[in-house]
Amino acid sequence: MQVRNTSARWGSVAQFLHWLIVSLIITQVILALTAEELHGMAKLAMLARHKSVGITILMLAVVRFGWRLVNPTPPLPLTLKPYERFLANFTHAALYVLIFALPITGWIMSSARGFPVSWFNQFQLSGSGDEEPPAVRGDAGNARSFWRGCWAQSRCCTCSARSSTILC
Ligand code: HEM
Repeated sequence: MQVRNTSARWGSVAQFLHWLIVSLIITQVILALTAEELHGMAKLAMLARHKSVGITILMLAVVRFGWRLVNPTPPLPLTLKPYERFLANFTHAALYVLIFALPITGWIMSSARGFPVSWFNQFQLSGSGDEEPPAVRGDAGNARSFWRGCWAQSRCCTCSARSSTILC
């Protein structure tokens, strides 16, 4: 199998990146929906996994786009009608925008709420670097900001306090 794209067909690297990103997006939706069902630390841990997979998708999207720029793009079949050609090009462009926009907006949303974003705990992209809710650590100042984050995230995380312990 051809590693690089030719003017006739996609190469193995482009195909591998395509199916890897597809499977990670499916994983990503499953992780998010699973997190919705959970509470407390289990929910935060599931969301941390969701964020790490999302950042992986973003990194792969950059590689994929770069690979596309330095490789020929096989043309669409000549048998396509003009409206089919338009729809195919439009859909491909929209999917490219989405694989960048979804992880970037997720990252911005999490950071804006003051929640940490790390890549499988290997490196920190924003936030305090501590996945543990500050109130569990007994840090009153950070606990207040965690509360604000919880309030902002009230759609997915209903918080209540009992003797300085936060239950989401
Ligand atoms: C291709 C990448 C991504 C996809 C397809 C995706 C998809 C989703 C989906 C389907 C939900 C559930 C939304 C709902 O039920 O209302 C969700 C929630 C969430 N995502 Fe992502 N996501 C991606 C990347 C990210 C990234 C990179 C981050 C952070 C760094 C992130 C952070 C979150 C958070 C914190 C929630 C919970 C939000 C809430 O319930 O208010 N996501 N995501």
